[in-house]
Amino acid sequence: MNRFELTEDFAQSLDAADPLKGFRGQFLVPEQQGKQRMYFLGNSLGLQPKTTQGAINTILRHWAEEGVESFFTGASPWLDLHQSLLEPLSVIAGAKPTEISVMNQLTVNIHLMLVSFYRPVGKRTKILVESKAFPSDQYAIHSFLEHLGLDPSEILIEINAGSENVVMNNEDIVQMIERHSNELALVFLGGINYYTGQLLDMQQISKAAREAGAMVGFDLAHAMGNVQLSLHDWDLDFACWCSYKYLNGGPGAVAAVFVHERHHADQALKRLTGWWGYNKEERFAMHNRFVPEPDATGWQLSTPSILLYACLQSSLDIFTQAGWTNILAKQEKMIAWLSALITEIGSEHFTCLTPESRGSQVSLLFKEKGRLVYDRLFEKGFMVDWREPNVIRLAPVPLYNTFTEVWHFYSALKAIIFEVYANNNPVQA
Ligand SMILES: Cc1ncc(COP(=O)(O)O)c(C=O)c1O
Repeated sequence: MNRFELTEDFAQSLDAADPLKGFRGQFLVPEQQGKQRMYFLGNSLGLQPKTTQGAINTILRHWAEEGVESFFTGASPWLDLHQSLLEPLSVIAGAKPTEISVMNQLTVNIHLMLVSFYRPVGKRTKILVESKAFPSDQYAIHSFLEHLGLDPSEILIEINAGSENVVMNNEDIVQMIERHSNELALVFLGGINYYTGQLLDMQQISKAAREAGAMVGFDLAHAMGNVQLSLHDWDLDFACWCSYKYLNGGPGAVAAVFVHERHHADQALKRLTGWWGYNKEERFAMHNRFVPEPDATGWQLSTPSILLYACLQSSLDIFTQAGWTNILAKQEKMIAWLSALITEIGSEHFTCLTPESRGSQVSLLFKEKGRLVYDRLFEKGFMVDWREPNVIRLAPVPLYNTFTEVWHFYSALKAIIFEVYANNNPVQA
């Protein structure tokens, strides 16, 4: 039985009882003719916290007033900023603070992780990937293998290759791992698929990969700050993510990696190095031979972007105030609410691609005229996104979306579908 009454009044009662309702006020919501838009794009670019501008200005002021001394002096020296990001991120990632390093951008970090965790030996050379992985992941892996003089078509084993299925089956993945257990070097998948919104069972996959003797890592661009993760306990070897989606770190925000602590002191592990990964105690002694920090920060290369750290910090402060378990509880309720409403529409014109195992994102696959539906939604103040060839993605985010907004999306979608498809009207695009 549905635990929701599908009415606007019910949506308002959910908002009234929401312990996180005050947090929307901490974000800047885009407007259309003086009215706040209904922004369901936390899966693409999270909203700007109101404190971000002030955080940037503080860095600029310190730069102006103290110059390079700002790295070492003042209430929060720039050298310590990285450390202050680790605690809140470790809660969200389910990792130890020492297992996280905030650095670079996601695709760059994928390359760096491949250097360390793709270690082909003898027959064990294969990498298990998704055939529908985000393009940048595919480009990264292909170019990385080619750089090693390897042929990607001989190394990559693709899940759902040549199949119409965009949704994967965890059991199939585990079976594939078992089937290839004597030749697999690495399993590298998206924790949540960008297109379908499917959340994989990372614990099960990680266990299977490790039992097969392979390394295992995940791209968590769509999972971090969205769903519950236990990267340490799930025993992943590595993970990497961007911070501009659910983490609200801003466009091009500084990304991060997780490296399980069992690898921190492994001298045999190859890595690309730079001075910012050098043991902190002696970094400025300017030695010639590299000695890494004895934790995940040993993977850092360059002087960090202090401005981007400040942006991320202003958002993570909100996560800390709101409480990660409260955020997750609202996330579950919100997606169940959206799902109940979409099921109620029950339109023959679209299907919901996203399986039960998911985070905040829902992907609606349209048979035809989907782009028109998207355009109409945009005109009416809804910000969702369009993914070629025929998918509308949206993600209600617990920190700033309301149950009533989700209700409005449902009523607008229902009306638009009626308008676009009724009597098979010839539609003017
Ligand atoms: C799943 C996934 N992987 C990789 C990327 C690329 O990230 P970046 O442009 O920060 O390198 C994205 C970007 O949205 C993504 O969604």
